[in-house]
Amino acid sequence: MLEAMEKAYSVLDDVFRKGAFVNIAIKKAECTEKQLMTGIVYGTVERYYECEYIISKLARSVKPALKSLLYECVYMIGHMRMPAYAVVDAAVDTAGKIFGSGVRGFVNAVLKNVAAGKVVLPESGNEYEKIKYNAPNFIIEKLRSDGFDPALFLLPVQKDKVHFRIGRLSDVERVLSSVADAKASPVGGYVASACPELEKLNAEGVITFQSPSSIECVKAFGDLNGKKLLDVCAAPGGKAVFAAQSGAEVTASDIYPHRVDLIRSYAERMGVKLTTKVADATVYNENYSEAFDCVLADVPCSGLGVVSTRPDITLNKTENDFVKLCRVQAAILKVASRYVAQGGKLVYSTCTPLKDETENRIREFVSENVGFRVANPTEDSLFGRYIYPDEIMDGFFVSVLERI
Ligand SMILES: C[S@@+](CC[C@H](N)C(=O)[O-])C[C@H]1O[C@@H](n2cnc3c(N)ncnc32)[C@H](O)[C@@H]1O
Repeated sequence: MLEAMEKAYSVLDDVFRKGAFVNIAIKKAECTEKQLMTGIVYGTVERYYECEYIISKLARSVKPALKSLLYECVYMIGHMRMPAYAVVDAAVDTAGKIFGSGVRGFVNAVLKNVAAGKVVLPESGNEYEKIKYNAPNFIIEKLRSDGFDPALFLLPVQKDKVHFRIGRLSDVERVLSSVADAKASPVGGYVASACPELEKLNAEGVITFQSPSSIECVKAFGDLNGKKLLDVCAAPGGKAVFAAQSGAEVTASDIYPHRVDLIRSYAERMGVKLTTKVADATVYNENYSEAFDCVLADVPCSGLGVVSTRPDITLNKTENDFVKLCRVQAAILKVASRYVAQGGKLVYSTCTPLKDETENRIREFVSENVGFRVANPTEDSLFGRYIYPDEIMDGFFVSVLERI
C-alpha cells in the first residue's frame, strides 16, 4: 500500500495544486500497484470537498502540499476497505519521507481523529450540497438556474463499457472478431468492455477511444467527403482525425504548441494526413477568409458534461473563470465564422450545458451575424442540440450554423 499511497499523493498534488488533468497525470504515473493507485486518486478527487471539509475541522493552516496527502488518507479511511490503523501508519511513514520527520506526530494525530469519526458531515445547507455534488456552490446554482438537475451532471455515473471508433472500414471484421464483446453502439462507433486487446488495437491506431458525443459533433457537418475543414480548437485531435477519416481535407490548429504536438502524434498513430498549426483562434487570420466549407469551433469550456470521466473539472474553479471562458468562446465563434465559405457550415460545440456557454452564445452570434442560421434547432433549444450525460454519452451541446 505504501507505494500506491506515495504515487497517488504525487498525482493528487499535481491535480490539486498545479491544475494537472487527472486522467493524463494517472497515465503518466508509474506504479507497481497501479490499480490501487488509480482507485485512490479517482476516489479522492471525487470526494475532494468532503476531504477538505473534514481536514478544515481538524487542523488549521496546513501546508497545501501536506493537504494533498491528508485528503488522500481521509478518502482511504472513510471509503476504502482497509483498516484505518494501517492507513494511518502508512500515512505517517509517507509524510515523514516526503515532508520530514517533524510532521509525523501531526499527521498521526489528525488522521486518528478522522478514523475516530470526530467530524460529522453536514446534513443540509451549502456545505452539504458542496460535498454531495463535489462542486463549489456557484456551479450547482448555475446548473439549477439554467434548468438542469445538478445530479445529472455532477454525480458520478458508472461507465461499464468503453466506446471506440474503428479507423478503417477494412478493419471492422478483424476488431469485432478479436475483441470478445465488441459490437456496434446504437449511438455511433462501437462498444466493448475494457480489455488489453483494445489497448493494443488503440496503440496500433486500428481503433481510437472516442465518446459518441464527440463523434456526433463531427457528424453534425453531414457528408465530409472532399470538403475543406478547419478545426480551430483541435487538440488533442479526436474530432479533426475523425473528420479526416471521413474524407475531409483537414487543417487542425490549437493555441498551445505542446498540444499541437498531440494532434500530430494522434494523426500519425491513426495513419491520417492533416495540416497542423499553432494559432490563437481569437485572432483573425486573413489567409483563411471564407476559405473553408466546414469550420469546427469545439471551444474551451467549463466541461460540466464530462465530470464523470474528469472529476477534477469542478475543483478550484471560480465564477470569474467561467466569465473569462464566455469571452473567449464569443471571440472564437466570431472569428471562426469569417473562415466559412458561402454555403458552408460552422459547428460550435461544448462539453457543458451551461446556457452562457451554449445557447446564449449562439443567440448573441445569430443576432449580430445575419449571414448565418441555426440548422439544427431542437425541442430543447432553437439554437442547437443538447446531449445529456448518461452511462454512454458525455454531456455536449452542438450547434450547426449554416452560412446563407
Ligand atoms: C474542448 S478542447 C478541444 C478538443 C478537440 N476538438 C478534440 O476533439 O480532441 C479545447 C481546445 O481549445 C484549445 N484552446 C483554448 N483556447 C484557445 C484559443 N484561444 N485558440 C485556439 N485554441 C484554444 C485548448 O488548448 C484545447 O485543446
